[in-house]
Amino acid sequence: MSTKKVFIETYGCQMNFSDSEIVGSIMKSIDYEVTTDINQANVIFLNTCSIRDNAEQKVNRRLRELRSYKKKNPDLKIGLLGCMAERLKEQIFNEEAVDLIVGPDAYRDLPNLLNVAESGQKAANVILSEEETYAEIEPVRLDNNGISAFISIMRGCENFCTYCVVPYTRGKERSRDPQTIITEAKDLFDKGYREITLLGQNVNSYHWNEDSDMNFSRLLEHIALINPLLRVRFATSHPKDISDELLYTIAKHENICKAIHLPVQSGSSDVLKKMNRKYTREWYMNRIEAIKTIIPDCAVSTDIIAGFCDETEENHQDTLSLMKWVGFDYAFMFKYSERPDTVAAKRFDDNVEESVKSRRLDEIIELQKELSAISNKKDVGKFFKVLIEGVSKRSSQKLFGRNSQNKVVVFPNHEFKVGDYVNVKITNCTSATLIGETIE
Ligand code: SAH
Ligand code: SF4
Ligand code: F3S
Repeated sequence: MSTKKVFIETYGCQMNFSDSEIVGSIMKSIDYEVTTDINQANVIFLNTCSIRDNAEQKVNRRLRELRSYKKKNPDLKIGLLGCMAERLKEQIFNEEAVDLIVGPDAYRDLPNLLNVAESGQKAANVILSEEETYAEIEPVRLDNNGISAFISIMRGCENFCTYCVVPYTRGKERSRDPQTIITEAKDLFDKGYREITLLGQNVNSYHWNEDSDMNFSRLLEHIALINPLLRVRFATSHPKDISDELLYTIAKHENICKAIHLPVQSGSSDVLKKMNRKYTREWYMNRIEAIKTIIPDCAVSTDIIAGFCDETEENHQDTLSLMKWVGFDYAFMFKYSERPDTVAAKRFDDNVEESVKSRRLDEIIELQKELSAISNKKDVGKFFKVLIEGVSKRSSQKLFGRNSQNKVVVFPNHEFKVGDYVNVKITNCTSATLIGETIE
């Protein structure tokens, strides 16, 4: 009998990508192989995101497309996983050709749920857990370059930013046993991986109750000490919790990457208050000053929301001026999208007109383009240690990798291997890429 095959399509954040690897591992335990060819699949999983309305619309369109696969193969089972499954629950059975609905904390139940689905019934488990961290499950590495991997170190979020759906779809915050994290990292290094990204919605609040000394800084240090050739990254930091202790730890270890993703959301203290971010513009500026003082070569990236409820033109200008003051190296920028059942949806009016939201977002994107270009130009003439990730998409004669600041660097291929470190002198740049020559 040929092995059954599962096709997993992932939407949303890095945590969802990491979860898909856990799902792959659980499916493997019941003899399913992960396939990259959807036409061979006995089971299709969509691991979904609810963060903005357009993220959900994309999945809805995909579900409609998948109807034709079901017509071709009546035995095919389709599962909706992740945040949309958690948000919409059984309600989606009424609308779409979905056989299984599985929330982010219920993946261990997949074998059971599939059994039910195979008997012809619909199956759902959307129970959120206060303990589940999938700690000892060894993920199946998907989309793999063999060099970089994600490790989830915590799940859930209890910050309840008023615009955000994540606390409702991911449940209570919980940290994973540090020993299992360190073991997974060591194992990845032994298999040839050279870069690990530690993941959580707010990694700075990582803590392990059974060892009061174990906080995020200590955990990061443990991972950095595995081997100097293993690079460590992390995402995401919440500005309210980023401590000097963490900054000193980053500065101390060469292999902890000098790049911090610190989502600011808005440059106006009034808007931040309404967003329940629990910090002010001044607090954020103080944290940036601390970063620049303690880690002078650190890159800072951010997330920004344009057009939150009641945002005035002046508030928007505050965001632009803060962006300039910080000089972000990179940013993810979004239009505010009201999410059902959040505090903002219940209590505030989504009253910034669509055309105004769009115009403000465009101004933010335009400014960030300039800031990214300035940041790249400053790097011309500098030397960076680059971890090689692969052959450049534009030219097979060139390789690409990243520097510690997480910038992509392209350079000529002189018989290097993926996973090698090379020293590169930057000779030129575009707004998205650094271009250089390797040196001895
Ligand atoms: N935990 C991270 C963010 C996770 S969501 C943090 O707090 O920093 C990623 C980004 O999506 C957020 O930083 C925010 O900029 C954006 N986002 C979240 N909810 C949104 C909404 N309702 N509309 C538009 N953007 C949103
Ligand atoms: Fe959402 Fe705020 Fe939690 Fe980030 S910290 S996931 S924005 S509620
Ligand atoms: Fe989306 Fe859920 Fe991540 S809503 S951003 S997939 S935590």
